[in-house]
Amino acid sequence: MIDDFNRKIDYLRLSVTDRCNLRCTYCMPAEGIRMLDRAQLLSAEEIIKTVGILSRLGFRKIRLTGGEPLVRKDIITIIEGIKAIGPIEDISITTNGVLLKRFLKDLYRLGTKRINISIDSLDENNYSRITRGGLLGKVLEALDESIMMGFGPIKINTVITSGFNLDDARSFIEMSEKKPVFIRFIERMHIPGLETGSYQKESGIKQVNLDDIFRFMTSRALYRRIKGPQGFGPAAYYRKSGSTGSIGFIKISKDRCKRCNRIRLTSRGTLKRCLFSGKELDIKKELRKGRGPDTIIKMVSEYIKGKPDYRDHTNIQDSMNMIGG
Ligand code: GTP
Ligand code: 5AD
Ligand code: SF4
Repeated sequence: MIDDFNRKIDYLRLSVTDRCNLRCTYCMPAEGIRMLDRAQLLSAEEIIKTVGILSRLGFRKIRLTGGEPLVRKDIITIIEGIKAIGPIEDISITTNGVLLKRFLKDLYRLGTKRINISIDSLDENNYSRITRGGLLGKVLEALDESIMMGFGPIKINTVITSGFNLDDARSFIEMSEKKPVFIRFIERMHIPGLETGSYQKESGIKQVNLDDIFRFMTSRALYRRIKGPQGFGPAAYYRKSGSTGSIGFIKISKDRCKRCNRIRLTSRGTLKRCLFSGKELDIKKELRKGRGPDTIIKMVSEYIKGKPDYRDHTNIQDSMNMIGG
């Protein structure tokens, strides 16, 4: 589907749950957040129906997100249902990796081979501090297993949080020399309305930013810009000769919006045409009212046409675990 700014919108980020087995400091406040009741989440059947409707509007790529998508018990049923729709060409997943190992066989069988894993530090203690108790070893085990099984492209998401320093960056750079992974250093997005004290309290060590990391990386070795892996995202990637992996940088920029190809389905069952948009279309309500696919298609198509050309500055009430990044 083409929007009013002539962008082709064919990528859906699908947040299947707001629940997560981690509590990353930049995503959730220490005191936790109120989770949705089960009835407020879309059922597997409703998710599949919605994707079916969107596929009729030309959507071809689906990325499953959360919260943590793998905490949803029927996640494999959801993927099977989406696959059975037909025209969907690509189903991928973004996970924190904690439960990944046990799902690898099924994901491989279903062709969900593009996996993005969030790892914000390779130092066990720092990882545990950022995720408030996560065990890095489990995630790294799943990563190695997925490389062995032939998943790819595998991307590692590293959000630059407070306390992230050049030692952290160095460990990721070393990882990219040995493993066939695309590491992406991500500028943390500040979401208006969510920046309460508890999100920002973690501090201490001198924090670095993406430019510092880039300078540090290129001062140690020669990197050349490479074309990114298969994917529909915006990172700029670099590779050192002889390395099996590469390093990417994800910045928030106006340019990104010009090429934006995506909308989101939140775990509450609403469509969001921009990550920063408070204006949503309540698909769940329409489905539960018994509206037929043709009526919903019309509503969705009008809603998507009005996707803003630059981030919508409405005050969003959701935290990232609800939207899925
Ligand atoms: P693929 O291209 O399908 O591999 O996806 P991706 O790299 O965009 O997805 P992933 O879920 O790994 O997200 C990577 C980072 O990009 C996260 O920090 C997301 O929050 C961020 N991101 C994804 N989509 C958007 C977007 O539309 N706008 C902005 N500003 N950030 C986004
Ligand atoms: N800024 C940037 N990225 C974020 N993510 C979660 N919160 C933020 C934020 N505030 C990332 C996660 C995950 C992806 C879906 O979004 O680390 O990898
Ligand atoms: Fe969970 Fe991802 Fe939020 Fe961390 S950033 S708490 S892994 S949803």
